[in-house]
Amino acid sequence: MTAVGIDAIEIRTGKLRLDLPNTFAPKKGEDPEKYTKGLGLEASSFPDVYEDIVTMGANAAKRLMDRKGIAPEDVGRIDVATESAFDHAKPVSTYIAGCLEQVYDGDFRHANKGERKFACVAGTQAIDDAYNWIRAGRNRGRSALVIATDTALYERGDPGEATQGAGAVAMLVDEDPSIVELSTDQGYGSMDETDFLKPNQQFPSVDGKRSVQVYLSRMREALEDYEAVAGPVGVEDVSYAPFHTPFPGMVRKAGLFAYRHITRDSPVEDEIAAAIGRRQPREDEYDSREAYEEAIREYMDELKGAEQYREWYAETIEPTLELSRVVGNWYTGSVHLARASALRHAAARGLDSEFVGRRLLVGSYGSGAQAEIHAETVRDGWREEIEALDIDDQLESRYDLAFEEYEQVHDVHDFDKSVEVEELTAPEAEFVFTGWGRMNERT
Ligand code: CAA
Repeated sequence: MTAVGIDAIEIRTGKLRLDLPNTFAPKKGEDPEKYTKGLGLEASSFPDVYEDIVTMGANAAKRLMDRKGIAPEDVGRIDVATESAFDHAKPVSTYIAGCLEQVYDGDFRHANKGERKFACVAGTQAIDDAYNWIRAGRNRGRSALVIATDTALYERGDPGEATQGAGAVAMLVDEDPSIVELSTDQGYGSMDETDFLKPNQQFPSVDGKRSVQVYLSRMREALEDYEAVAGPVGVEDVSYAPFHTPFPGMVRKAGLFAYRHITRDSPVEDEIAAAIGRRQPREDEYDSREAYEEAIREYMDELKGAEQYREWYAETIEPTLELSRVVGNWYTGSVHLARASALRHAAARGLDSEFVGRRLLVGSYGSGAQAEIHAETVRDGWREEIEALDIDDQLESRYDLAFEEYEQVHDVHDFDKSVEVEELTAPEAEFVFTGWGRMNERT
């Protein structure tokens, strides 16, 4: 069977930066360590007034197409995943295709376009759709362009405000991919939930504390469902585990849950038991579900301090958080940033061909709520592709917002037409939002 997976990736950050410990925390009267240590965040990316989900997505896609030498006729499908869409009828992919058609000979009239929605898991669902389309043999040799793009903004004063971010990740899904091959096996945990929703509103209504529990429950179910089809996951099988990262502190919790799950009934559990003096609780040892859950909580508290867990976390999870720590939540793009962070870490460690064939365990999550677990296998072009990213330069050149500027920019992205704010950075040969009716022109 020909391998199908992610052949290329480009990342586009919003051009503004909000420093959480030094600019945001003092104005909120909070200890900066709540952000840096508690949530695990240093900064958020924000879009300048001329950026939006279309410009960020189109700018990422343009760089990807140019770098890979791809013309519109090579792309048979454009799917955009977003939870920041401004149009209930026309998909964001048509706006992005319109931008790209300004700069290429040829057009995308042959391409199937759509918009995928299931909160943050939609980026992964769009990749799955592209995978299935290619596997079904409907692609006629063409590749699929998947773009995850969001302005992840919350109402000011909402606890989620600290976790905001904005950016796009463009990915090319193709046969014989350079970066990772997707496995056919997937596991799901899915249930109707109202932890985070945006019914006809720009900013979400969020039950933050509950959303954390829903994330963990659906992710556990997805892992169990994945194991039911792919067999048990072993600690040694996985080099990195990129998870959806609304903020790194969330993945710290998810990592602990996942580790307990994958070490159960394994020789590693014996090693840990020798170190902390107890084995994992089994449900049949307890009289009630509550007593069992309490025992699990106590076990997890001890597991946190076990050397085996700390080493695994440092190698497998911590490296996936590097980008999100400095850009915040990108919703649909977030798990794809986590994958990119992991691969950047592998390159920085000097890995090359010995990394080919290693596995990533990818945990995607969308509120409302659904988690998906699947595995990916590293391919032999991974390093060249990851080294081609220019995200470090983009991060370095972001404009540092003063708190008052942050509030104004936030209002602009709430579609508050009464706010007139000068752009804070200068557009450079890129797609820009020029106002409703004259949208998205190329400078
Ligand atoms: N020093 C060190 N740590 C500190 C600290 C300090 N001075 N002050 C607080 N902390 C720690 C807290 O102990 C806590 O850590 P634990 O959870 O490990 O105990 C952490 O910092 C956060 O503190 P709070 O819980 O007090 O923070 P909060 O209540 O203000 O907000 C939140 C947390 C509810 C998650 C909020 O950020 C939120 O609503 N976020 C949006 C929703 C979200 O991201 N949910 C995640 C799952 S849903 C999802 O993943 C989909 C999505 O993308 C939205």
